[in-house]
Amino acid sequence: MSENNVMIRLRGISKDYGEGDARVEVLKGLDLEVNKGEMLAIVGPSGVGKSTLLHLVGLLDRANGGLVELDGQDTDALNGSERARLRNKMLGFVFQHHHLLDELDARDNVALPMRIAGRPATQARQEAEALLDTVGLSARLTHFPDQLSGGEQQRVAVARALVMRPQLLLADEPTGNLDRAASDGVFRLIRDLHTEESLTSVIVTHNEEMAGQCDRVFKLAPAGELSGYV
Ligand SMILES: Nc1ncnc2c1ncn2[C@@H]1O[C@H](COP(=O)(O)OP(=O)(O)O)[C@@H](O)[C@H]1O
Ligand SMILES: [Mg+2]
Repeated sequence: MSENNVMIRLRGISKDYGEGDARVEVLKGLDLEVNKGEMLAIVGPSGVGKSTLLHLVGLLDRANGGLVELDGQDTDALNGSERARLRNKMLGFVFQHHHLLDELDARDNVALPMRIAGRPATQARQEAEALLDTVGLSARLTHFPDQLSGGEQQRVAVARALVMRPQLLLADEPTGNLDRAASDGVFRLIRDLHTEESLTSVIVTHNEEMAGQCDRVFKLAPAGELSGYV
């Protein structure tokens, strides 16, 4: 497969936290590649470093060593504001907790990334409404987060992640807080949008059924043990 088919390339990534006796080595010499258009599941025991890995790919944190390339670009060479701009333009995030702002309604939560990017309020709201329609919440535009169910809150979070039309969707246990029915619905939504929006997606999940519905599964092992595709 040629170089430009790779959206995410990690090479020899190491990441540790803390100093001296408190030092914890989380990732050590990790290699990972995700092709454009691929939906990759990341699985592994709690505390193994799945969120850490996603934060590195999402430019929310920097590795102690190794290469993080996004669409052929060496992200380590970028400064803080360049990384922030790339994040806003190219990446969408969904976390286990929705992280919606309580004081904004659904539409303004979804519009927020566009406002941060400097787009006019009317355009941002229009885009937000379109996205909320896509996730099945056109009747919830002016509901505040505490007026929505857990599944609805996560749908708003998915809409917010996609409002800037990112190439890359990163989701960290996006259904971890939901009951079975809501969980299935949110996962199906992510999978459908992955296809419709031609995304490259990385989904951390403990749910084997969901992992099995992704194109490939990468099992993260403790530092020093072998991680790889399963
Ligand atoms: N900011 C931090 N400071 C110190 N240790 C951390 C920090 N973030 C994560 N860790 C540690 O790194 C390890 C991996 O954490 P994490 O990536 O959250 O695992 P997972 O998402 O697989 O459950 C854990 O041992 C955790 O305690
Ligand atoms: Mg985690």
